[in-house]
Amino acid sequence: MSKAERIEILIHELSKGEFLSGEYLGQLMGISRAAVWKYVKALGEMGIEFESVPGKGYRVPGGIKLLDEKRISAYLSAHATGVLKDIFCFYEIGSTNQFLLELAETGKAQYNSVCVAESQTSGRGRRGKAWVSPFARNVYCSILWRFEKPLFELEGLSLVVALSILDVLEKNGYSGIKLKWPNDLLFKNKKLAGILLEVRGDLTDYCDVVIGFGINVSMPQKLGEEIEQEWVDLESILEASIDRNILIADILSTLSRDMENFEREGFSGFYEKWNEKDAYSSKEVLIMAGKNSFHGVSKGVNYQGALILEINGEEKSFHGGEVSLRGYGGTLD
Ligand code: BTN
Repeated sequence: MSKAERIEILIHELSKGEFLSGEYLGQLMGISRAAVWKYVKALGEMGIEFESVPGKGYRVPGGIKLLDEKRISAYLSAHATGVLKDIFCFYEIGSTNQFLLELAETGKAQYNSVCVAESQTSGRGRRGKAWVSPFARNVYCSILWRFEKPLFELEGLSLVVALSILDVLEKNGYSGIKLKWPNDLLFKNKKLAGILLEVRGDLTDYCDVVIGFGINVSMPQKLGEEIEQEWVDLESILEASIDRNILIADILSTLSRDMENFEREGFSGFYEKWNEKDAYSSKEVLIMAGKNSFHGVSKGVNYQGALILEINGEEKSFHGGEVSLRGYGGTLD
């Protein structure tokens, strides 16, 4: 049995929340009682809080509600069930985006496949940053989608994804969440969720897009210190227990509907709602585009999803890609 398999057995057993003896776990994992302790300590390093009580054994208080592809599938809308294909679910993976990109490149993936993971060892953020991805705390999810459109027509897609996530969170009682162009979700100016789109394919006729999103659900304070900007998680916005399987299923359901609308009609059907939720509407902002920066007043997005900035009385539009926006006067991206 490999180390990874043993860890999986241990997580599965301890996720039930009851005390289990070292002897029992050792038997399941094919190792000695003493060696079980090393594995339990490894779980601690992954951010899983456990108790160790002499005579009783080990337990994860409250258990862990693990991700489960069957439960995600069960909560999908009828439309999403028809549209989505495989749901790959991992305890640990480098990056859910990378996993689907590799499948697409080797031609092994079915379009509209999904990948979710409990943790990512090389979670990717925008502009080469890492995405902090501790075990069983948050949502890390990617979808591989084929758009029968050239790349330039995909402008606005990441804004649509942000809106879909926002839609689901609002339906679940979270209010006050705003959007930051091109694709962040903020609460009180702190980052709640991020989206990373990675594109492959011919790009002139069609694009294979991996749409990845990460949502902070219950980020451990200590690991959150690794995040380079102010952040917030769902748990601290609203005291409610969150079933990540249902949350993911709701987002996939909304997203598959919204992506089809976007493919048919472009961004025009979304632009009004996006501007309503814009965190920087009419505010002074700084746009960083490579080595250049532009200071102006944000006028929201246009029908294509480009950001309009008023600079000395003139309007200039900015397109997604590697451009980033900063609030002027301290709030950094
Ligand atoms: C950002 O920097 O705001 C984008 C973050 C995107 C993170 C998600 S988590 C799931 C998917 N897999 C990754 O490696 N990144 C995205």
